[in-house]
Amino acid sequence: MFSRVRQIRDENSETPGDFLNEVHKWSLESLGLIALDTRLNCFDASEDSESMRLIHAVQTFFLSVGELELRAPWWRIYPTKMFRQYVEALDTILSVTLSHVEKALKEIEANGGSKSLLQDLVTAAGPRVAAVAALDLFLVGIDTTSNAVASILYQLSLRPSIQERLYEEITKVLQNRPMKPGDVNQMPYLKACVKEVMRMYPVVIGNGRQLTKDTVICGYNIPKGTQVIFQHYVMGNSDDYFYNASEFKPERWMTRSPAQKHHAFASLPFGYGKRMCLGRRFAELEIHTVICKMIQAFKMEYNHEPMDYHIHPMYTPNGPIRIKLTDR
Ligand code: HEM
Repeated sequence: MFSRVRQIRDENSETPGDFLNEVHKWSLESLGLIALDTRLNCFDASEDSESMRLIHAVQTFFLSVGELELRAPWWRIYPTKMFRQYVEALDTILSVTLSHVEKALKEIEANGGSKSLLQDLVTAAGPRVAAVAALDLFLVGIDTTSNAVASILYQLSLRPSIQERLYEEITKVLQNRPMKPGDVNQMPYLKACVKEVMRMYPVVIGNGRQLTKDTVICGYNIPKGTQVIFQHYVMGNSDDYFYNASEFKPERWMTRSPAQKHHAFASLPFGYGKRMCLGRRFAELEIHTVICKMIQAFKMEYNHEPMDYHIHPMYTPNGPIRIKLTDR
């Protein structure tokens, strides 16, 4: 990704206005490698390529699903423009997914064994289950991770001293050799920085459950069947749960001091329990690797008006992410 970033920097060494789109491509490329063991070559993809159609379809899906589900369901009476776009996006995602499942089936037949997560799934559970699982991966694995990375890069670009500490940690562990599995376990500050951004700016601001039995929460009797929402954003930014919650302080994830220690459930950006994020380990692997490489390669600065965050529907910086990248 960082060699790509060098190519697309403008004459002021800043990332271009559509940088988030580049991060989406990186995210799909990483998912392709993890789930399909395939290079999709997203960075070289033309606008009408399968990869770009998939990226746009996932964005359309996320932008319309909330509107269609939560507002008056006119689409039940007649197919509104948004409903038609939504169905078209789902058709695109399904057809791309099915083409990969077919490819996986053919490769298994040809090679007599599986070499990707998708091929494992096809072998273990059959093409139908594999197709549904792959659909889920594409649907929720691209934008979540890319918006998290965009947000982390932006937050770090506002904080040079934190970048320096990260650079020291990374250099000490890697000693100028390429990254290998297990390295990130020697980088507690890197992990803490990612957790801190996810605490203050969780890409998924909340997640819901329907209670399966009558439950008492904070002294309130909540009957079975009620929808309850765990507000990641509210909890993560509350002084009730985090010491000086408005301060960006990665050390809070490394401290053992009881006075500053927060409850283990106070920030759950990947959810919890049976329905927690299935892709958490993938996402963390991707995020830690890319942030590590970016910090190794560049000093980052943000020299424009501070950006607000908005829900789009991921919680993400609202505006072009123009980060000045100076080679180290
Ligand atoms: C920073 C990146 C990500 C964040 C913040 C995130 C967050 C979440 C959250 C909050 C949930 C709901 C959990 C719950 O209800 O307890 C979820 C579900 C899910 N996520 Fe992620 N996710 C990320 C990346 C990914 C990736 C990369 C994949 C796949 C490769 C993925 C696959 C899934 C799936 C399949 C579910 C549904 C699980 C279920 O309903 O049983 N996620 N994610």
